[in-house]
Amino acid sequence: MYAPVSSTRRECAHDTIVNGNRLLRKGQKIEVMFWGLHRNPEDWDQGVFGDVDKFNPDRHLAGAPPRHANAQKPFGFGVRSCIGMQFALLEAKTFLCMVFNFFNVQTPPGYEIIPHVGKAFTAAPKDLSFDLSFRAGGPLDRINLFGSFSGETIPLPSKQPEVVTEKESKVNTKNGGSVIIAYGSNSGTCEEFASLLADEVTKDGFDPLVMTLDQAVDKLPNTDSPVLIVSSTYNGAPPDNAGKFKEWMTSLKEGSLNGMRFGVFGVGNSNWESTYQKFPNEIHM
Ligand code: HEM
Ligand SMILES: Cc1cc2nc3c(=O)[nH]c(=O)nc-3n(C[C@H](O)[C@H](O)[C@H](O)COP(=O)(O)O)c2cc1C
Repeated sequence: MYAPVSSTRRECAHDTIVNGNRLLRKGQKIEVMFWGLHRNPEDWDQGVFGDVDKFNPDRHLAGAPPRHANAQKPFGFGVRSCIGMQFALLEAKTFLCMVFNFFNVQTPPGYEIIPHVGKAFTAAPKDLSFDLSFRAGGPLDRINLFGSFSGETIPLPSKQPEVVTEKESKVNTKNGGSVIIAYGSNSGTCEEFASLLADEVTKDGFDPLVMTLDQAVDKLPNTDSPVLIVSSTYNGAPPDNAGKFKEWMTSLKEGSLNGMRFGVFGVGNSNWESTYQKFPNEIHM
């Protein structure tokens, strides 16, 4: 409700009509107020949830009536949306889990949240402070700060012989031939998937060759080895190590991949609604 960034701006690239009746001229600037957007009764009361100024997480439960795809956009939208969103969400969850693992957290008696946009531009509750105590049974509760750890010590299990199932123990020695595994990745997710895939096909007796999509261009088309592609996309465009591949792909003549065996594993995020998995889909077509 109190998105840390309270608004964003856009400038019209062309004359356009929004909501069917509002003319915006080229060059005109508009400010999108997230705090207003996140309280739009059409999306947040919906005749079900009531007062849009009230914190009510039920609004987000599965089964809530459908609402506009852009009804909640604290990280902005479209091609200029926040590039730190995934990091910020992960960081926030990690931080909260750590704090609540160690401490009981309470606001001082009588404190009421007053939303406040301070000098730092982002919003934060005014004059917020916390009273912290060690959580009963939590890690700090069991430590004598001036001595040593006073909790029970748990004996380490003596080393057992490793029991490995038949399936896991045997790397299939049958020679399945080589497999090209090509990935397009900026921040490492698809690179990691490619390496996991390489481990899997090795167990099945294949000989994987892992490379970026751009490196794969020199090896394609290839009818000898199956080709497995794992790729993400950024605003619908290829990742940085797949630009050359995209050029190569778009220059292909009809039928030039005849006889080639390939599979595509697309990776994306549906927050980018209109370009969700766009590049992997293009490869697949
Ligand atoms: C809770 C934390 C955060 C919030 C609420 C937030 C929110 C936003 C918003 C609303 C925008 C403008 C988007 C638009 O106009 O459509 C933005 C842009 C941006 N954010 Fe964040 N952000 C957060 C954390 C981060 C982090 C951790 C990073 C960097 C690691 C980051 C980097 C950026 C960058 C570089 C842009 C400009 C993107 C562009 O203009 O193409 N943000 N952020
Ligand atoms: C700036 C930015 C733009 C993105 N654009 C899209 C997009 O258009 N479509 C999509 O499906 N996913 C999009 N994503 C999500 C990424 O594809 C997703 O995070 C993926 O896991 C990244 O994989 P990688 O680490 O292998 O590059 C975008 C992510 C960022 C940070």
